[in-house]
Amino acid sequence: MSQRTRLAALSSALVGQEICLRGWLRTVRNSKKFSFLNLNDGSTQSGIQIIADAELPDYEEIAKLTTGSAVEVIGQLVESPGKGQAFEVQAQQIRIYGRSPGEDYPLQKKGHTLEFLREIAHLRLRTNTFGAVFRIRNTLADAVHRFFQERGFLYIHTPIITASDTEGAGALFQVTTLSLDQRLPLTAQGKPDYSADFFGRPVFLTVSGQLNVEAFACSFGDVYTFGPTFRAENSNTSRHLAEFWMIEPEVAFCELSDLVQLAADFLKFLLSSCLERHSEDLAFLQKMYDPELCATLEHIVSSEFQTVSYTEAVDILQQSEQPFEFAVEWGADLQSEHERYLTEQHYGCPVVLIDYPRDIKSFYMKQNPDDRTVAAMDVLFPRIGEIIGGSQREDNLEQLQKRLRELDLPEEEYGWYLDLRRYGSVPHSGFGLGFERIVQFVTGMKNIRDVIPFPRVPGHADF
Ligand code: 4AD
Ligand code: MG
Repeated sequence: MSQRTRLAALSSALVGQEICLRGWLRTVRNSKKFSFLNLNDGSTQSGIQIIADAELPDYEEIAKLTTGSAVEVIGQLVESPGKGQAFEVQAQQIRIYGRSPGEDYPLQKKGHTLEFLREIAHLRLRTNTFGAVFRIRNTLADAVHRFFQERGFLYIHTPIITASDTEGAGALFQVTTLSLDQRLPLTAQGKPDYSADFFGRPVFLTVSGQLNVEAFACSFGDVYTFGPTFRAENSNTSRHLAEFWMIEPEVAFCELSDLVQLAADFLKFLLSSCLERHSEDLAFLQKMYDPELCATLEHIVSSEFQTVSYTEAVDILQQSEQPFEFAVEWGADLQSEHERYLTEQHYGCPVVLIDYPRDIKSFYMKQNPDDRTVAAMDVLFPRIGEIIGGSQREDNLEQLQKRLRELDLPEEEYGWYLDLRRYGSVPHSGFGLGFERIVQFVTGMKNIRDVIPFPRVPGHADF
């Protein structure tokens, strides 16, 4: 079998040589003397034109090829006389792996809506849009690891099945082997008897690896986790998924101001990596979806992030002329419209909001001396709103115990977590970046469902 060359690896150094390509046909055009096939193997945006001469021995079969077919082409790479493409291939031999009945193939030449493409999420990957999205997603995942590995962080795999609700929001998917089709075993009080369940207790899919990764930070110093997380929120928005990936660094001997710096450096590194590697994909997405795409990415890489306290932000919002759907009041969570106003209109750069009211944030956040706010931070990006959520952690044992009591959270469930404050407690901080939110931001896609392979949202878990 010939060695296969990826389209992304073609260069002028290969001109004149015989190469072997394998991929799927995007378009087919026949004339009397030639067949023109556009082949794409997923490695680049543009694909390549293959010219099959009617003199080829099995031309009759080649001329019957249709869009979507999988083929191998062996031929000579030549400079293309045509505009808009550097090379083309003069085919010497074409092997047909799998034909694709043209009239049935769901991806016809006319443009399809993104909504329609979601229904064929297994085939949408063969379009220019999703080629660009998933190549960029790959680069972002790689850049996440490069950023932390270059800085000496340890990559930790935190569990998917957990007993604790980190965020205390109650949006949990329960995991059980008890059958819903059969009568549940009950306790004397008439409650489900979990001693009969697989783990002998109720367990859930994780909403965050944070509590586990804190244990690692309190042993290894600088760590991060990057894995799937699950939220059973009934949010049908363009920014929410029921299954999404999250990157959570956790750093010992680190206070909130250092964490803000880490988050800004991290986000800029991710954007720069995409600008460096994906000019062709970004140009395509810019043309299709957002004329400001590259300018926005470059602007963020070169801007200072603006740090503002929640209290100050509330003042700004209350004094603004902008009509908001939801009223702004100290103590209430900000809505996406408020977040976007701050970053897009008021400051015109990414905003880091800090020191949120204690009562709208999770139990583990460090109490500020004012007794009503905590050392939390949210990073707000244009178009997306909240892209990162994080905080300094409460490292004082008594304060943390008091907070658990106030929130009616059972202390015995958090025994191991309290141990981290009992034995050699240190100031430590961390944040979570929603991976799909950053992919969405970089690609300019309007809907988060279009940046994850097979989206899971309320009412949909197909494929
Ligand atoms: O703000 P969140 O809920 O914070 C945490 O989970 C902390 N435990 C993180 C930490 O401090 N280690 O979520 C973090 C980020 C959000 O800023 C958002 O980008 C993303 O995760 N996110 C979602 N992304 C897609 N769909 C959802 N339903 C999301 N919920 C949160
Ligand atoms: Mg949050």
